[in-house]
Amino acid sequence: MSKDRTIGFIGGGNMGEALIRGLISASLFRPEKIFVHDPSAARVEYLLGEYGIKASRGIPELAGHCGIILLAVKPQVMLSVLGELRRAITEKQLVISIAAGIPLSMLERELPKATPVVRVMPNTPALVLMGASALSRGGSVSDDQMETALEIFRAVGKAVEVEEKWMDTVTGLSGSGPAYVLLMIEAMIDAGVLMGLPRHLARELAVQTFAGTSAMLDKSGKHPAEMKDMITSPGGTTIRGLKILEEKGVRGAIFEAVEAATRRSEELGKG
Ligand SMILES: NC(=O)c1ccc[n+]([C@@H]2O[C@H](COP(=O)([O-])OP(=O)(O)OC[C@H]3O[C@@H](n4cnc5c(N)ncnc54)[C@H](OP(=O)(O)O)[C@@H]3O)[C@@H](O)[C@H]2O)c1
Repeated sequence: MSKDRTIGFIGGGNMGEALIRGLISASLFRPEKIFVHDPSAARVEYLLGEYGIKASRGIPELAGHCGIILLAVKPQVMLSVLGELRRAITEKQLVISIAAGIPLSMLERELPKATPVVRVMPNTPALVLMGASALSRGGSVSDDQMETALEIFRAVGKAVEVEEKWMDTVTGLSGSGPAYVLLMIEAMIDAGVLMGLPRHLARELAVQTFAGTSAMLDKSGKHPAEMKDMITSPGGTTIRGLKILEEKGVRGAIFEAVEAATRRSEELGKG
């Protein structure tokens, strides 16, 4: 990506800040090429002090000097933001939205005809640059623009392109997924405590077990079942634990959780 590119954040909250941090640490944009507009003066002052980025006094000013515009506001304020943005941009500018549940059709309808628009579903581990983001492109997005958008989200973790029809499933899987994983980690910590382990030790061991297992699986490229077989010795401790998890239907519960969250995302989208 050209070092002269400029990016402007409309909304400098949690996710906006995570992206700013990621872009700077991946050297994708120089801090002076990153602009932010947020109604909270204290928030803007903090972001400028922390990252050395620049402030824009409003959406028209931001749109005036940024080739890429990243919408990082809550879905409830999106319509009014798009209304202001519509009057300030040309179809040469790439617009990227991370607002949950706002479809490409709405973004495209509210912006000038032929504006390239990308819709993204990131997840909370982006806050520690370990996010999983899915991106869908609108009708006017070129391959180069899509690659730019993917690069931006790779700065905060992994990023994949999906057709928009998968966005509800992505929401149910990786969007809501961190909460499922946290529930499992919490249960493992409590189970350690039940067995008499001091809580701080149970926490350290459980958290590292999740992080280490994910890293090992990712690095190996193996099927999870193959890796599980490799670490489950005949008549050993692990197979005893696995038998209980299967009897209690953990696998089926995870299927149903992702399905229920996907359906809820579909419902919210219709609403
Ligand atoms: N956090 C996540 O893990 C996550 C995951 C997936 C998707 N998302 C999506 O990411 C978006 C941002 O989420 P977030 O967690 O970063 O929210 P957030 O922390 O509330 O940040 C939103 C920021 O936008 C500001 N804002 C409000 N109206 C504005 C306007 N008209 N112009 C410019 N800025 C304005 C808010 O200021 P005030 O607080 O003063 O109103 C706030 O600082 C949401 O649409 C959400 O659906 C977030």
